[in-house]
Amino acid sequence: MFRCSAINAQEQIASWPLNLSVGRGGFYGSVQYYFGYNQLRRSILKDPEEETKFRRLVAKAGGGRPIKCAVEIGTYKGTATALLAYYADQVVTIDKYNFIDKYTFWLEYGVYDKIHSYIVKDNEDKADVLAKYNFDLAFLDGDHSAEGVRADFNLVKKCGKVIFHDYYEENTGFDKGSAIIQGVVSLVNSLPLDEVTIGRPFAYWEKKR
Ligand SMILES: C[S@@+](CC[C@H](N)C(=O)[O-])C[C@H]1O[C@@H](n2cnc3c(N)ncnc32)[C@H](O)[C@@H]1O
Repeated sequence: MFRCSAINAQEQIASWPLNLSVGRGGFYGSVQYYFGYNQLRRSILKDPEEETKFRRLVAKAGGGRPIKCAVEIGTYKGTATALLAYYADQVVTIDKYNFIDKYTFWLEYGVYDKIHSYIVKDNEDKADVLAKYNFDLAFLDGDHSAEGVRADFNLVKKCGKVIFHDYYEENTGFDKGSAIIQGVVSLVNSLPLDEVTIGRPFAYWEKKR
């Protein structure tokens, strides 16, 4: 016997004929089916393998315990926010733009009450939001330029655990040679090797105690 859930990892999933399943955990499939590809575009959930890799890193960061408060920079339509909210007691998510699709989405997945969503003008504003919370994990998926990702990392690194999206090795990523993607690559590559786990397109940094 197991309890059914759209976002929980599931022992058995029947996918025929709707192809909702991605194996263990059906979040990607159910989002695609009920909300359509528009909800997945630009998200870490744009392909099912990314969901699995992201889940693994979040679980690693939690180390078997629930995450008290996770920060996400780059909300967009709130797709990854909802998945993070499954692992964390609360999620603080920050963006420069207020994409309205996120509200129904969070309500539909039953995570609306766990999410604190902010729109900021600049990094000073972002720092003010972050100062209000004690967070134990950060997920960076906002400005991917060298300056942008560095600024975000500096704002969240005090929590000691950071997941980066779009870590593609130089000139081998989907967007070959892109200055944008290279921002994440060069920052991650500057961190101590023994503090970094790579699970492309993610990288995870955990500060050694
Ligand atoms: C790739 S989308 C995020 C997708 C989301 N994390 C997911 O996986 O579902 C990037 C988002 O970052 C936002 N963004 C860009 N620059 C930013 C900045 N400096 N601070 C905060 N958000 C930013 C964009 O407006 C956009 O909504």
